[in-house]
Amino acid sequence: MKGTFPIEKFSHLSTPFYYYDTQLLRDTLFEINKEAGRHNFHVHYAVKANANNRILSIIRENGLGADCVSGGEIKAALKAGFPADKIVFAGVGKADWEINLGFDAGIFCFNVESVPELDVINELSAAKNMVAPIALRVNPNIDAHTHHYITTGLNENKFGISLSHLDQVLDHLSELKNIRLLGLHFHIGSQITDMDAFKSLCIRINEIQEHLYQRMLIVDIINVGGGLGVDYENPDRNSIPDFHHYFETFYKHLKLRPKQKLHFELGRAVVCQSGSLITKVLYVKEGVNKKFVIVDAGMTDLIRPALYQAYHKIENITSDKIEEEYDVVGPICESSDCFGKIVSLNQTQRGDIIALRSAGAYGEIMASQYNCRSLPKAYYSDDL
Ligand code: LLP
Repeated sequence: MKGTFPIEKFSHLSTPFYYYDTQLLRDTLFEINKEAGRHNFHVHYAVKANANNRILSIIRENGLGADCVSGGEIKAALKAGFPADKIVFAGVGKADWEINLGFDAGIFCFNVESVPELDVINELSAAKNMVAPIALRVNPNIDAHTHHYITTGLNENKFGISLSHLDQVLDHLSELKNIRLLGLHFHIGSQITDMDAFKSLCIRINEIQEHLYQRMLIVDIINVGGGLGVDYENPDRNSIPDFHHYFETFYKHLKLRPKQKLHFELGRAVVCQSGSLITKVLYVKEGVNKKFVIVDAGMTDLIRPALYQAYHKIENITSDKIEEEYDVVGPICESSDCFGKIVSLNQTQRGDIIALRSAGAYGEIMASQYNCRSLPKAYYSDDL
């Protein structure tokens, strides 16, 4: 065993594959429960980050609910044993069959993003003689200062109902008989490491609550979404995100009304550091002025570097030789199929095993079969 990896076990497995440190996942969940539990906050895990059944089951065993964004995710959550009354369903484009699936399963809440969606949910719930529990997703127009592909809480984004439309929407809602307003929902973006962004969100929510209070409206639930970032540079030193500081930020700055409950939808912070993509070196190729390490994993297995220029720490976990610099690339026929440029790695040769760290979130779930490749397999520390 070198570092956190059981390398001797890896040599029997065909690469590439995702390796999950299931004990680290449990330790992370323990911290979440401890820190959220102090304030009686509730966390729904954002299934979009990783919907692997084994991972979902561990998260469910540790008591979190599930935040789903499609009928497929609702099915995955139910299959992993999440109780329906701990499932919330968000997304700007819910199809009728997905809404009906939510009704039939008896999910806790629909996070609604627009007036036409409200009307459809009202119509479909009337057809089933039901009253649908909903939360309104409000776009708080807060800049989370994260990558523009993963920022969601600005007026220019497609998500939620803008503050300037909120009154109109509430008026409209009061006329819909088959809908019950349970809460307000917010989400400002992902991979947020500066707590000031969350503080700004709290302040904005306080203003909105004050405004609603003038209308004699107090909702049961405030859902502040997810977004807590992880330390991609130091996956070992900071393997568990600072949940204490995160939850304290909301405890300090958000003014909840008596009996009002606070919900969170964390994805990345729950699963990211427990997963690594393990790949084998196929060739070391001499370029004109650099060396390429060509591995058997590609952007089809982990698309984040190609799509968001995301950084994942890369380690040669089998070589002890002195470091050299390489570009680490995959086999896919695209120039963007590059995991890192000028990466310092222990001197590398064909057959060495490379770990791409912090790949537990938005890794396996975003894999594709482009170039007719197989989807990556997954292994778990519990089994090796
Ligand atoms: N709630 C809502 C409404 C969301 O849109 C998201 C993420 C979450 C919760 C969970 O956010 P988290 O806690 O994981 O930051 N594929 C991108 C990330 C996209 C995030 C989309 N929404 C990436 O690889 O960085």
